Amino acid sequence: MSQIVLKIFRCRFQESTAGIPPGSPGLPLIGETLQFMASIYSGKGFYHFVRIRHLQYGNCFRTNIFGETHVFVSSTESAKAILNNDSGKFTKRYIRSIAELVGDQSLLCASDQHHKLIRTRLSSFFSATSISVFVKQFDESIVETLRSWDDGSTVVVLQEALKITCKAMCKMLISLDSGEELEMLQQEVAQVCEAMLAFPLRLPWTRFHKGLQGRKRIMNILDKVISERRGGIKQAYQGDFLQQMLMEDEKASSTDEAPRLTDAEIKDNILTMIIAGQDTTASAITWMVKFLDENQDVLETLRNEQQLMAKKISLKPYLSVEDLTEMPYASKVVKESLRMASVVPWFPRQALKDCEIEGFKIKRGWNVNIDAKSIHLDAMVYKDPSEFNPTRFAGETKPYSFLAFGMGGRTCLGMNMAKAMMLVFLHRLITTYRWKVVDPDTSTEKWGLFSRLKSGCPVQLTRITEDDSVQT
Ligand code: HEM
Repeated sequence: MSQIVLKIFRCRFQESTAGIPPGSPGLPLIGETLQFMASIYSGKGFYHFVRIRHLQYGNCFRTNIFGETHVFVSSTESAKAILNNDSGKFTKRYIRSIAELVGDQSLLCASDQHHKLIRTRLSSFFSATSISVFVKQFDESIVETLRSWDDGSTVVVLQEALKITCKAMCKMLISLDSGEELEMLQQEVAQVCEAMLAFPLRLPWTRFHKGLQGRKRIMNILDKVISERRGGIKQAYQGDFLQQMLMEDEKASSTDEAPRLTDAEIKDNILTMIIAGQDTTASAITWMVKFLDENQDVLETLRNEQQLMAKKISLKPYLSVEDLTEMPYASKVVKESLRMASVVPWFPRQALKDCEIEGFKIKRGWNVNIDAKSIHLDAMVYKDPSEFNPTRFAGETKPYSFLAFGMGGRTCLGMNMAKAMMLVFLHRLITTYRWKVVDPDTSTEKWGLFSRLKSGCPVQLTRITEDDSVQT
């Protein structure tokens, strides 16, 4: 009898797994969640979990995390099909902990229809004119920060970059660029970010609970700012995102126009943009400094280009967007840093219908993640992928091979802003200091959703004197 039951069970099991991607479903209920968490705790970062399975199973594999099936795919063809989503088979979907932390009205989590509406509203804020204003403000802030560093001192690049990018985001969004409130907001945002990959347990001592508390305090700050603005203090904030949203809201309610963003949508998306813009850009800047330190020949070529730019702009106080377009080598350095770092290693989607990927059956409701990092490091896509070589971007690249900012309808909204921040930072750092990384540790942070160096990349600085720059 037991033989028959076993036979039936085997038959059913084989039938249900036939044609689906290879991989292990793990233990009942929890799947491979423990292995996923162990990878996070190991110091190799959460991506390690994906990497070892990619090596074991190839370009398409499945696993089970937090009770749900996840498929990871890493070919340019699949990336194209999923990110373009012409047939409407996929929607974006973050794991529950992330969705709760950024809020259900966030652009990151919104359903496709709602997403279109919010994205259109937010897009106006990333126009060429806005970026032009932003570049000047950002440069001003970088110059001030770099001036405050002491010659010969050691600074932790990630910490400095987080402060700079948080300030830039908060200024752009709610005109907050100094004081205790900014510091508090930065701490709360860090707490929210740390909770993103935590197990969604709401017990008071858990990381997830602390993240939710952080979110609550951020929402309180935003509530206060919104009610102050509605109370009439308006003129001082003409240019920022919040004021623009509130003014559009007021205009719409007086003319019965199409619905604008609700307060909940505004708040969730301000938090989303701080997280999306601050942590990612700061991490990318940190990796870039590290890669340049490891590749002195690239650094010297870059320094020559940037010294010429410094001479060109010597009569004006700050860089403009136009100046950034005249930094061809620096732009390639930025792109190569983003490829090597893959700050956002994978992009989560959910299958809305049964479908096929890489010849495997995908079931409706499964999470399908595009593994951008594996594509960036695939030797079939990039020659010598672990070599830091900016000139690889001199010519055309294979479609869907550079995915640092995603592609398709969910492409990063802040892409041009992020590139501009990296270029400005690079220009000022290179023309003001020489540096040496003092901690070569390459392990990544445990809890970051984005790939961040655990050491933060401490560097020892030597200020460049006028004599130095004449010699170079
Ligand atoms: C180096 C820095 C950055 C990197 C590497 C980066 C990367 C990405 C990626 C890969 C996505 C798409 C994820 C997906 O398709 O699932 C994304 C989306 C997004 N990013 Fe960025 N980002 C950066 C900076 C910024 C900045 C500065 C902002 C804005 C202030 C920003 C705002 C957003 C928003 C709002 C989305 C969601 C877009 C949507 O769903 O329609 N990002 N980012």
